[in-house]
Amino acid sequence: MREIKMEAGTLKKARGSAMVEWGRNKVVAGVYGPREVFPKFLSNPYRAIINAKYAMAPFCSLEEHGRAGPNRRSIEISKVIKHVFENNVVVEEFPKTKIDITMEIIQSDGGTRVSAIAAASLALIDAGIPVRDIVTPISVGKIAGQLVVDLDKDEDNYGESDMPMAFSHRTGELLLWQMDGMLTHAELKQALSMGLEATRKVRAIQEAALKTAFENAAEACEEEGDSQ
Ligand code: CDP
Repeated sequence: MREIKMEAGTLKKARGSAMVEWGRNKVVAGVYGPREVFPKFLSNPYRAIINAKYAMAPFCSLEEHGRAGPNRRSIEISKVIKHVFENNVVVEEFPKTKIDITMEIIQSDGGTRVSAIAAASLALIDAGIPVRDIVTPISVGKIAGQLVVDLDKDEDNYGESDMPMAFSHRTGELLLWQMDGMLTHAELKQALSMGLEATRKVRAIQEAALKTAFENAAEACEEEGDSQ
């Protein structure tokens, strides 16, 4: 596993936010909502709509990306992340509204969707939006015939397979499961259990980041109360 640092409540203006440094990946996530949907006919009378936007900054990798705005890859990643959080946020509590999750990749080195999901989950909880659990992602892949946890860019590019996944430990759900390359059925099963095991450590880092954010928020409230 690469070194992971997480912080919730990073941005002071967003309703909820988080920053994740996962190896050389750096991601900032911001959350707005639940808020009204315009035009209204796009709203769902039974639940909140989740909008997810994953974007890479033009300066996030060695070769400059040049083109700003969405592309095929970022649209696909945004779509799968939307589905992760549709099954995690308690959407039925907020009919006719939308919740916007934005994830900006500032620096990338393989596994950015995993880092983005970890950040988005913290940002949602920082925003006080009811969720069923923390979402804890990881990637497991195969390099030179060997299954390995948490691939960086070179391992991903030269490896035989890459399988990003995201778990909810409390509900026991697998919320994301994608695969690039080939694995045998036995390897798939082993990779899933390696991912589940590795995410225990990731989840502990997420919990610690949330605890710090809520302690800081409580202290700030107390100070405000004292000064009034
Ligand atoms: O980042 P993730 O592993 O979720 O997605 P990927 O499509 O497997 O990309 C692997 C890595 O390739 C990214 O993390 C980036 O470091 C790099 N990449 C890039 O620099 N520019 C792109 N347009 C796509 C990927």
